[in-house]
Amino acid sequence: MVKSLGRIATLMAGALIVVALAGCAVKHANGNLVNGKKLFASNCASCHTLAHANSTGTVGPNLDDAFRQDRADGVKSTSIAGLVSYWIQYPNTQGRMPAMLLKGQDAEDVASYVGAVAAVAGTDTGALAAAVAEKVNPTPAVGKQIFTGVGSCGSCHTLSAAGTTGTVGPGLNTLKAACAVPASQRIRGTTLEKCIETAITRPYAYIPPGYAPGIMPSNFSQTLSPSQIQALVAFLSSAQK
Ligand code: HEC
Ligand code: HEC
Repeated sequence: MVKSLGRIATLMAGALIVVALAGCAVKHANGNLVNGKKLFASNCASCHTLAHANSTGTVGPNLDDAFRQDRADGVKSTSIAGLVSYWIQYPNTQGRMPAMLLKGQDAEDVASYVGAVAAVAGTDTGALAAAVAEKVNPTPAVGKQIFTGVGSCGSCHTLSAAGTTGTVGPGLNTLKAACAVPASQRIRGTTLEKCIETAITRPYAYIPPGYAPGIMPSNFSQTLSPSQIQALVAFLSSAQK
């Protein structure tokens, strides 16, 4: 293993990678791509660009560029995944990538995802497209889960229907009144639903009196899927008396 380690590290940088693979020194990864994409978003995206994952990190090499030659040479996705898996376990010891970011099946899953999409044209589709921002049923019940869960809205907002008591942002029990203010209606729309949707997707377009911009995250339209946002809108509007 030790001998092949140096060899792979060297070959990773060069186009001769196929030779190393022929020696079968690298374990072939076989993993769950959806889980792999989620793990990539939370563990790798901050440092690496990978087009399919919409990531733009620049601390480490661009992973599309890194595997473009291999892809062009016909190296199989599973073989690229094997190399990525190996790299996660044994990154360059003089390098800046932390070792053992992920272990076991998680490492295999993220490696399989990178192997499947690196330097491949196009975008993710189906379950993969929805892996990070999930497609959900836009019902009030689902919205409530998002409010207290992935959205962590309750950490900043008080809302009786969700049982949350945050005080960083305005209380959300009285949104009907907040959305009826003429200045709000001009900017956030005249219906309660439109007002809430705008408040979530463009929070600084209209700032309620007494609050400041820059505190509520302004990227929910990227971190949540359209159906997750619709679920929040359905929940918040149904929670108004
Ligand atoms: C803190 C930043 C950082 C994180 C997080 C990170 N990497 Fe890296 N990665 C690097 C750097 C920097 C390199 C270049 C070699 C070095 O310095 O270690 C690298 C190199 C690589 C390479 C080799 C690319 C080549 O050109 O040969 C692969 C593959 C890779 N990383 C995959 C991953 C995966 C998968 C994850 C998530 C599990 C990850 N990296 C997380 C910084 C990072
Ligand atoms: C880090 C704290 C924070 C988080 C997290 C947060 N908000 Fe806010 N929110 C604020 C602040 C501060 C304001 C007022 C200033 C502004 O509009 O940007 C606000 C304003 C709002 C308003 C308009 C209220 C009014 O009276 O007009 C709504 C609706 C809202 N947030 C919903 C949400 C939802 C839904 C989530 C979760 C997806 C969320 N917020 C997450 C801090 C937060």
